[in-house]
Amino acid sequence: MYVEIKHPCVQHKLGILRNKHTEHKQFRELATEVTMFVCYEALKHLEVKEIMVETPLCQTLCYKITDDVLVVPILRAGISMLDGILSIVPTARVGFVGVYRDQKTKKPIEYYKKFPEATDNTLCIVVDPMLATGGSIVATLDLLKKHGLKRAIVVCIVTCPEGISVVEQAYPNVPIYAASVDKRLDENKYIVPGLGDAGDRLYGTL
Ligand code: PRP
Ligand code: URA
Repeated sequence: MYVEIKHPCVQHKLGILRNKHTEHKQFRELATEVTMFVCYEALKHLEVKEIMVETPLCQTLCYKITDDVLVVPILRAGISMLDGILSIVPTARVGFVGVYRDQKTKKPIEYYKKFPEATDNTLCIVVDPMLATGGSIVATLDLLKKHGLKRAIVVCIVTCPEGISVVEQAYPNVPIYAASVDKRLDENKYIVPGLGDAGDRLYGTL
């Protein structure tokens, strides 16, 4: 299952992200802002409990998030989504996965992992701006499964039908949320129209 966030405010920001003249400072700011919008939708099923709160006028029924949330950004580009999601779920814990695509084979190479303890109920949110072939996300979900995690969702900024299909085949119960499902992958396995190389644009390594 995937959800594309077609809200005009998201699409407006995405247009600026796509522009090749947008430089790393603004690119990073927009990545944070778009992440907040996508997560707003992705997290609408979080569990809450009822609590009573005293306003200046009276007691009233309010809600408090009870889900144990673990955010896992995929290094490096996934780090750009961390501030955005943590501003929505500030109590979330954070694990890290280091994966990069081999330049020739485009297959994921894992180089780092560090996860906090989790339970069967922990909800793991994997964040990465680009879901292209799906290799990096599937490798990350494999690591999380080995760590015992049972509930996961994927939040990205841009994806494509090929990547969605690969993730859905490997993990049919993991929903994918994105600001855009683009047309296709090119011969170098870059998303078209896409954003280009997200890590390079974020961190100015062009
Ligand atoms: C990018 C991106 C994803 C991956 C997507 O990372 O941030 O992690 O590629 O491609 P896939 O779906 O085909 O696996 P990259 O490998 O460029 O590493 P970086 O974040 O360190 O730049
Ligand atoms: N990684 C990126 O950064 N961009 C793409 O389009 C594909 C993989």
